[in-house]
Amino acid sequence: MPSTTVESLREAIQRRRTFAIISHPDAGKTTLTEKLLLFAGAIHQAGMVKGKRLRRQATSDWMAIERKRGISVTSTVLEFEYGGYHVNLLDTPGHEDFSEDTYRTLTAADSAVMLIDAARGIEAQTLKLFQVCRQRQIPIFTFINKWDRDGLSPFTLLQEIESVLGLNVYPVHWPLGMGTDFRGLYDRLRQRWEPYPEGPLRDVPPPDPSLRDALELLDEAGEPFDGSAVARGELTPVFFGSAMVNFGVRSFLDHFLAMAPPPGPRISDQGPQPPDQENFSGFIFKIQANMNPAHRDRMAFLRVVSGRFQRAMTVRHVRLNRSIALSQPQQVFAQDRALLETAYPGDIIGLFDPGYFRIGDTLSSHHLLSYAPLPQFSPEQFVEVLITDTGKYKAFHKGLHQLAEEGAVQVFRGVNRTEDILLGFVGRLQFEVFEYRMQNEYGVSLGKTFLPYQYARWLSVDSVDSVQLSHGSRLVRDHEQRLVALLPDEFTLRWLAEKNPNIVWYPTSDRNTST
Ligand code: G4P
Repeated sequence: MPSTTVESLREAIQRRRTFAIISHPDAGKTTLTEKLLLFAGAIHQAGMVKGKRLRRQATSDWMAIERKRGISVTSTVLEFEYGGYHVNLLDTPGHEDFSEDTYRTLTAADSAVMLIDAARGIEAQTLKLFQVCRQRQIPIFTFINKWDRDGLSPFTLLQEIESVLGLNVYPVHWPLGMGTDFRGLYDRLRQRWEPYPEGPLRDVPPPDPSLRDALELLDEAGEPFDGSAVARGELTPVFFGSAMVNFGVRSFLDHFLAMAPPPGPRISDQGPQPPDQENFSGFIFKIQANMNPAHRDRMAFLRVVSGRFQRAMTVRHVRLNRSIALSQPQQVFAQDRALLETAYPGDIIGLFDPGYFRIGDTLSSHHLLSYAPLPQFSPEQFVEVLITDTGKYKAFHKGLHQLAEEGAVQVFRGVNRTEDILLGFVGRLQFEVFEYRMQNEYGVSLGKTFLPYQYARWLSVDSVDSVQLSHGSRLVRDHEQRLVALLPDEFTLRWLAEKNPNIVWYPTSDRNTST
């Protein structure tokens, strides 16, 4: 590559920040996202991001089910420019019935913002999403929201992050008071006082004894700021504020963008691939069908890992070993789409998918390489399904096959009765979306029985005879004929592990972690 081209590629990479917000429903993700977009000038008034009230009457939702449930099922990628940075915010569905898509989106992020409700602390969904970030060792930045209301004390919240998540903390902001007594934030890195609700910024904090004591304690007993520990995902910088009244958010955003990493190398079967090379490459992390019901289209989302993407470029689809021209790449901002001309590492491209793509596929322009497969996520809910109309047998199996390939569902079959079909999901909504799509896209109504299992464990043996099973659990096989035990509770899991000392019980088929 000519050196000017390399330089402009490097400059584009350095400017990019690709991240996701992890939170429990109602922590304020929509409100925070809206404020970030307002700063960036990407939207012009509050309320343009689907707020709860708007969601109820939204007409542009991708799927009718979203309207029915009043929630946003599908993730979008929000792109905006701010302070010299090009930001890609991967939106993770926030409803408590989140799905595997939510997890997979995190595999495309370079960092995460953990949003916590000050009155609630770490909640269940935040913890699950945090664990995925932890596995990837990406930097995590914490924003403690709703400081305009009474909540837990800042020390209690920090302690909870340390003890529940095992993360070290560095409070960048320190609040004085909260709720109706909230008086402002001290920025420990910039040594700047920001009074609440408003007023000029000052270099010195107000002479309040409790603030002085807290700051002294943090300086003496707290973790020092260590950028490399942040980069390794071991130390989380902590910020306080209120997304609703837009306090502390801009200061958080400025620090976050300066500290968060630009896109880095990614592991492939040919070794780590640096982003600043001529070879364009990327991987598919999400496939979404019916984004536009008028067109019945299917779109694959690709995260660019290396090189510069240019519209109409021809790339190699490594798994299919064929060349494809990417002539209609899409930039996706919520419902609006525009043709994309160029993209750089960290960017997300929407590709029309005539059925070529699977989750985890690699596209590459010059070298044949495959990125490490995306982790699989253990289903937590199980449903046995039947076709109610036997005339639809073919459509049923086609739908099952296509939706499983798309990553919308995990399919299991009985070990002795292969006609028994059991489906695994991460959340109830994932099943509802599946059921809706079987009906609307394949014309198949399902008979269904919800099963009492909560855990799936892939076994290190292939023979059914070598497993001693307990009452209430069941053996099935996944689509690659691997043996899987479905278990009702953790107690059964521990009991079985004791009874079968020679078997390893993996939580997913890719066996990247054991129980
Ligand atoms: P989510 O996307 O994480 O689910 O949360 P969302 O932003 O929809 O916020 C959930 C509720 O919390 C909303 O109230 C929102 O106004 C409120 N909220 C968000 N940030 C703050 C904050 O900093 N302080 C306070 N006090 N409240 C905050 P709602 O009444 O459930 O919905 P709405 O009718 O206001 O949309």
